[in-house]
Amino acid sequence: MNRSQDVRDDRVSLIEMGPRDGLQNEASPLALIQRLELIQRLADSGLQRIEVGAFVSAKKVPQMADSAALFQALPRKGSTRYGALVPNLQGLQAAIAARADEIGLFTACSDGFTRANIGISVEESLVRFAPLVQEARSLGIKVRGYLSTVIACPFDGPTRPKRVAAMAEQLLDLGCHEISLGDTIGVGTPGTVAPMLDAVLHEIPAGRLAVHFHDTYGQGVANLLPALERGIRTIDCSVAGLGGCPYAPGASGNVASEEVVYLLHGLGMTTGVDLDKLAATGQWVSEQLGRPNGSRVGQALHANAERLRARLCQPLAHPQES
Ligand code: HMG
Ligand code: MG
Repeated sequence: MNRSQDVRDDRVSLIEMGPRDGLQNEASPLALIQRLELIQRLADSGLQRIEVGAFVSAKKVPQMADSAALFQALPRKGSTRYGALVPNLQGLQAAIAARADEIGLFTACSDGFTRANIGISVEESLVRFAPLVQEARSLGIKVRGYLSTVIACPFDGPTRPKRVAAMAEQLLDLGCHEISLGDTIGVGTPGTVAPMLDAVLHEIPAGRLAVHFHDTYGQGVANLLPALERGIRTIDCSVAGLGGCPYAPGASGNVASEEVVYLLHGLGMTTGVDLDKLAATGQWVSEQLGRPNGSRVGQALHANAERLRARLCQPLAHPQES
């Protein structure tokens, strides 16, 4: 990393998306008890911010039904902050009742995606969000602003970097404490991500930004580098690379949390996350879902652990009797 930066800059905050962005697109929903175990395992691996669920229409996203019961069942020990995704007043009220530590409001740079996702235009979403942010803040609940389609929209095509900067500024002006820049369909490369970040950073300091890369084309880890080089220290990621958005056809999950931790530790940066515990959780949730582990790091660590186990289980060789 840029060694001219303060050493405290080497600490990166990870926002775990697996229980929400991850599970919202899984064909067979996990039972409440499995979702709860997933969140507890993630917290136990050292993750300090976990998006637990979404207060959205259960008709639209059945995987997120029971998010209220999930919040109620959380043990809430330690310093982990539990967040919820919220689309409207009904969702905010549910999140407040559930004692969510933070909420995420979500809009996009493009009307096509916003209409498919929440049934209104971008402009209408900003009008809707303004009083929600005020209400949440008055109760001491932090509000994260998700900005989707920062590279391209599945309906409207490529997004101009200046459009992303203007939208991010508007979300900040509404009172969001942090803006998560989402490459919703995962088409970005460092070649398109860097100019987008430069445009946003022209208006907004790095400390107020997070990056949210989906890994559809395998560029998630590569795209983190221009963000880190520019001082962004908040990264959204999903254990075992779970998920995608039901309203972004073909998009795969967020960059896997295991890949992000492996990269950051390799760069000498700190995350507070125990990679072995995280990888074991990724393997566990993949088995619960009956699908292959979507993290390459997770697969490698699991294979190593299996090899070690096989070696330890071998019967001791007895010396040949002469
Ligand atoms: P609508 O149909 O326009 O809303 O949906 P409505 O106000 O007309 O209500 C219709 C029904 O929905 C009513 O129920 C409401 O009670 C119910 P009915 O009378 O028919 O039984 N309803 C709700 N139920 C629970 N919680 C609520 C809620 N609001 C209304 N908050 C709405 C509008 C936004 C609710 C709907 O379109 C919706 O839920 N969309 C789902 C959006 C979603 O979850 N998308 C995936 C997450 S976004 C994402 O993944 C991107 C991100 O990761 C960043 C990135 O990758 O770029 C964040
Ligand atoms: Mg997403």
